[in-house]
Amino acid sequence: MKRPSRAALFEELTAAALCAQKHAYAPYSRFRVGSAVWALNTKSGEERLFAGANVENASFGLALCAERNAIASAISEGFRELKAIAIATGSQPPGSPCGLCLQTMVEFAVDLDVILLNTHGDRHKTKLSQLIKRPFRWKGAGTERDAR
Ligand code: THU
Repeated sequence: MKRPSRAALFEELTAAALCAQKHAYAPYSRFRVGSAVWALNTKSGEERLFAGANVENASFGLALCAERNAIASAISEGFRELKAIAIATGSQPPGSPCGLCLQTMVEFAVDLDVILLNTHGDRHKTKLSQLIKRPFRWKGAGTERDAR
């Protein structure tokens, strides 16, 4: 799919995140999240949208976040370069991604455009670098092992 203009892309991601939110399975927290990510397959040059919702479990700690579900779908189909992501919640102001999701975004994006939105019509555009200032990176972690 050809990448739409920036404004059209944001609209498309926003609509897809809100649509995915409707499929959230969140009977425990009742906090429904939908996400849509625009990703590039660097081998074929193809770009596409992938969506995800949060999926909970009676064992609460097993909840899967919407953002990581969307990203996992993209990666699973070979789209490893994330360009923009939208996250829809019902909270006011719109919720931010959790630390696990931010770290996952860092793995697959240089400086991602992030749209935080909610069902009340609020839209907040930001960048991944604003949400996670000094991410953990494997190279930065050094190669020394614990001396024992
Ligand atoms: N959740 C997400 O889907 N994304 C986040 O970034 C934070 C939290 C979900 C997990 C769980 O189903 C519910 O929100 C409450 O934590």
